[in-house]
Amino acid sequence: MSFPEFVSDLAIPPQEYHRQLREWSGWMRKHQPVVYNEATAEWVVFRYADVVRVTSDYAVFSSEGTVIKDASDQKQGTSIIEMDPPQHQRMRSLVTQAFSARTISALAPQIKQITNDLIDRTISKGKMDWMVDFAHPLPVIVIAEMLGLPRDQWPHFKAWTDSIINRSPDSEQAAQSLMGFFIQAVETRRQHPGQKDILSLLIESEVDGQHLSQEDLLSFCSTLLIAGNITTTTMLGNAIMCLDEHPEAIDRLRQHPEAIPTAVEEILRYMPPFRAGPNDLLRGRLVKTDVQLGDQWIRKGEKVQVNRIAANFDERQFPDPNSFDVERTPNRHQSFGHGVHFCLGAPLARLEVAIALETMLERFQSIQLLHDKPLEQMPSLLIFCAKELPMTFQAA
Ligand code: HEM
Repeated sequence: MSFPEFVSDLAIPPQEYHRQLREWSGWMRKHQPVVYNEATAEWVVFRYADVVRVTSDYAVFSSEGTVIKDASDQKQGTSIIEMDPPQHQRMRSLVTQAFSARTISALAPQIKQITNDLIDRTISKGKMDWMVDFAHPLPVIVIAEMLGLPRDQWPHFKAWTDSIINRSPDSEQAAQSLMGFFIQAVETRRQHPGQKDILSLLIESEVDGQHLSQEDLLSFCSTLLIAGNITTTTMLGNAIMCLDEHPEAIDRLRQHPEAIPTAVEEILRYMPPFRAGPNDLLRGRLVKTDVQLGDQWIRKGEKVQVNRIAANFDERQFPDPNSFDVERTPNRHQSFGHGVHFCLGAPLARLEVAIALETMLERFQSIQLLHDKPLEQMPSLLIFCAKELPMTFQAA
């Protein structure tokens, strides 16, 4: 089959798009849970159990070749996203500690400070664009500081990584600029070693007694910078869209701020940052041996893509999946993936969004998302969020 046109239609306002996607995914889960999409030449699975299986069983569903490279990417090394064990484990273990829940929780005061600084810039105006003024800068500043890159350069990092993800006409140029920047930053650290940032950690790391090759080092850095900002920005925006659709949830969180961590999980479940349709950045898993999924046989060499939003609304896993419940527990959504590739940055993303929500509730008595013009989607086939979220607020 081919997916309906709306799945790749970036002109539909985001909340309406999301509604249509939920409805269609529900139909697919029920009637065609494992389907071959001719447009992408990939199988797609829609049920929770199949999504978990495909992302857990790496011996059958390999991550090899999942990152689609354009001409400018060819010189790059391999990203951990496209590695299988044991190589994957060796690379991931280099940064596990730097991204552990414990290390990340120590960053809370720094993240709170950046959050307050960003809000200070708009507080007297009574209005802001949540994306432009807040959701774009926060995650990119945080990950840049973790990597040891200069904070004031964040607009460049943001522009380059957005261009790469959106496959904009200048994406090759952006990838070259980003690489040029990292080459310079690596060179500076080689001349002045000993700094306590992730870039220095990776330069000094060894795998099987050898330092990382320059290509693998650069690839790791750009994976962290890209993965560490775009998805969290998206989620910060999607949080506002969820709360706009469910204003009773804001009242609930004001009365029970201790529910913010479960609200973060529900936002992730309900409006995950990744789209489910065809895109030109990430392919599905590569099938290593003939395998049966549902009532379909998938042959060695074919690809399987997982539809995480469909899994997140699977009624076999989530009671009353269409209701947005900020106190939902348990909530084992698939938005951070599953298995060995489970999102390395999950503790960081969770902390940033929780601090953003907590600060927003502290500093704004009320917020109103403006709908005088229809909202627009971000021009990306990989991620789902709004391009701009203009809003007014009453400062507390
Ligand atoms: C709400 C925000 C985020 C979401 C929804 C998200 C989602 C995901 C998902 C679904 C995967 C699994 C991909 C797969 O199975 O192929 C993943 C992996 C990854 N994420 Fe995140 N992510 C987020 C934030 C972050 C942040 C802040 C970082 C920080 C660096 C990060 C770094 C990574 C890395 C490095 C991987 C690859 C892990 C591996 O292959 O072992 N992510 N993420």
